[in-house]
Amino acid sequence: MSTSNRPVALVTGSAGALGSEMCKQFLADGYDVVVSDLRAEAADEVARAFDPSGNHVLSVAIDVGSTDSVDAGIKTIIERFGRLDVLVNNAGNFRQGLTKSYSDEDWRFITNVHLDGAFRCCRAAYPYLAKSPYPTIISIASVAARIGLPGRLSYSVSKAGLEALTRVLAVEWAPENIRVVAVAPGFTKTANRIFVDGKEVTHEAFAQAVPMKRMGRPEEQAAVVIFLASKKASYINGQTIVVDGGATIDLRV
Ligand SMILES: NC(=O)c1ccc[n+]([C@@H]2O[C@H](COP(=O)([O-])OP(=O)(O)OC[C@H]3O[C@@H](n4cnc5c(N)ncnc54)[C@H](O)[C@@H]3O)[C@@H](O)[C@H]2O)c1
Repeated sequence: MSTSNRPVALVTGSAGALGSEMCKQFLADGYDVVVSDLRAEAADEVARAFDPSGNHVLSVAIDVGSTDSVDAGIKTIIERFGRLDVLVNNAGNFRQGLTKSYSDEDWRFITNVHLDGAFRCCRAAYPYLAKSPYPTIISIASVAARIGLPGRLSYSVSKAGLEALTRVLAVEWAPENIRVVAVAPGFTKTANRIFVDGKEVTHEAFAQAVPMKRMGRPEEQAAVVIFLASKKASYINGQTIVVDGGATIDLRV
């Protein structure tokens, strides 16, 4: 094991739209980056695309739904880079459904990834973050935690839980100088499909509900994550930054 001179950022679920953009921007900002996802091959592809040499990007299969997988993944990162400075809890999934017929299994599937997964990653990363000169945890929440979106109970509750996790750990780990923050993206243009009252709507139609009349872009979410990890954000702690084009102050679906 050799210790990297560059700060090391781990982004969970980073074979996906937002996470891969975060990895790209962390790399451009001088970090060594860990692309990690449940989908190992997709993570490998992202890592190869960003850094064919493999010098500054490591791909690690991590299922945040499993404590063993998270712990093993963190061990692999430390074996390779010798340090961990930034953890981004980004992995996510989605199972829409009205609560009256939502199953226990669906509930557990969603909360286990979004909320329990973030808890597992924070716990496993803590000893290494505590040794970092500039440690940050950033969890990707959602505006769904702040507005009542029917059919999204497990998702919204998980995201609200991430905001609470952010506040508690910001205080608990302040003595180690670990800043703990969150980003709550609004409706961001990815391959995701949007349903309102059970009917699919286009991104363009849905964007009309946002004051800025457009969806966010992955790079706009990632830029805030990179800022929050940077020294420029050195006094921001325990907060969730909403990046939604104004949707939560005036959403007209
Ligand atoms: N896209 C949006 O509009 C939007 C809005 C608000 C919040 N978010 C949040 O941003 C994050 C990223 O969303 P995205 O749009 O890039 O979604 P995405 O589906 O493109 O990416 C999510 C990634 O997480 C991975 N993943 C799923 N389960 C996992 C597990 N158990 N372990 C590890 N990885 C797992 C998936 O394989 C996928 O690559 C999510 O937490 C999502 O809830 C997205």
